[in-house]
Amino acid sequence: MDGNRGPDGPSDAPARAAWMRDHASELRREDSNVAPVIYPTDERIDDELHVWDTWFLRERDGSIAEIDGYRVIVALTASSDLLPGKRHDVATLRYFYSDDGENWETGGPVFDGEAFGSRQWAGSVLYDDGTLYCYYTAAGRAREKELSYSQRIALAEGGAVTVDDDGVTVDGPWEHSILLEPDGEWYETEAQYRGMTYTFRDPWFFEDPASGETYLLFEANTPVPEGSDACGGDAGQQEFNGSVGVAHSPTGNPTDFELRPPLLDAVCVNQELERPHLVVRQGRYYLFVSSHVHTFAPGLEGYDALYGFVADGLRGDYEPLNGHGMVVTNPAGAPFQAYSWLAYDHGDELLATSFFNYREYDRPTMDDVALLPEDEQRRRFGGTLAPTVRIELDGAETRVVGALDHGHLPLPREELPKPWWKRAEGGDGDG
Ligand code: FRU
Repeated sequence: MDGNRGPDGPSDAPARAAWMRDHASELRREDSNVAPVIYPTDERIDDELHVWDTWFLRERDGSIAEIDGYRVIVALTASSDLLPGKRHDVATLRYFYSDDGENWETGGPVFDGEAFGSRQWAGSVLYDDGTLYCYYTAAGRAREKELSYSQRIALAEGGAVTVDDDGVTVDGPWEHSILLEPDGEWYETEAQYRGMTYTFRDPWFFEDPASGETYLLFEANTPVPEGSDACGGDAGQQEFNGSVGVAHSPTGNPTDFELRPPLLDAVCVNQELERPHLVVRQGRYYLFVSSHVHTFAPGLEGYDALYGFVADGLRGDYEPLNGHGMVVTNPAGAPFQAYSWLAYDHGDELLATSFFNYREYDRPTMDDVALLPEDEQRRRFGGTLAPTVRIELDGAETRVVGALDHGHLPLPREELPKPWWKRAEGGDGDG
């Protein structure tokens, strides 16, 4: 892979991995990457809420935190009275908890007082020795009169989790701070963007098992100055400049990060590499992002999908899984049924949770969802956790092997039902 292609980066930037047009031009729906069709469910996680991007409370080593028998998730939420398309403008972090990974109770808003941003977008939570570090995206500015799209990476620290007979409570007081803003060299600023919009969001805490070093991954864009020769000088393609950013904590303190050059970028390929996260298995680093059909550069045909890359170290030469990068997409008849996947390790398999987005909507893009009558927009929007997708992973190859129920999020030690063909092999099924 042409690791040095990063356009006009500072000269001390290490060689970096790229998702190239050659890879992405091979993207295809195949049996191995299409998730099962999602059917409507009566069992929404909370009828009063739209629920979308979701993440677990995790320990420093990435394992899912278990707190007195509970696992806890944080999700972006908004009142389900709102039209689904409006939810991003008022997103609020709420937590939910479960003692079996199948039935979820709504805890409540994560923050008691004001947070940075006019609303809060995706992030991650570190549960370290009883203390919570809640990383989030501050979108816009608090109390702004007109909604803006500035994005900063923020941290709320100091919260705690308590468990009693009534369940789980996440509580402050929180101390909020802005951790990171784009520097304009490795990471595009709002003033620099030429295309759809810039991104600088979705912080994800990561401790590298090889070195013990502490990092924060995030979604960003690589600056491509006007007149650059990136993408053969094609200004249209240059506007698509997504990257997976990274910051390092020199002290290991989870509050103290410095920007480093991106781990991977997708200049000339895709504008948004969303919610980047890693699964490390047997010394191989699997880097996952979500992306949309409409954020691929002109001339490429992509999908709303989970994409993945593998390297032999955190800062390795990431190669797209399956040759092109696509791991899970939606069926052709329901191309927007799910989005914003989060993959985690589960024994032999990977599990990927996501949210139930628009069903019965098979247009090429989602641009005209808003033209549907309002009751149809509501009826077709899932707004809850999607069925968890099961994925087999073999080196740089993946295969979707089925799905669990809506919002079923087992811990690694909890056994999954055997896929049907394994049942036949094992002789304990009806084959
Ligand atoms: C992905 C995403 C995130 C962002 C959130 C805003 O679903 O675009 O990148 O944090 O949605 O709603």
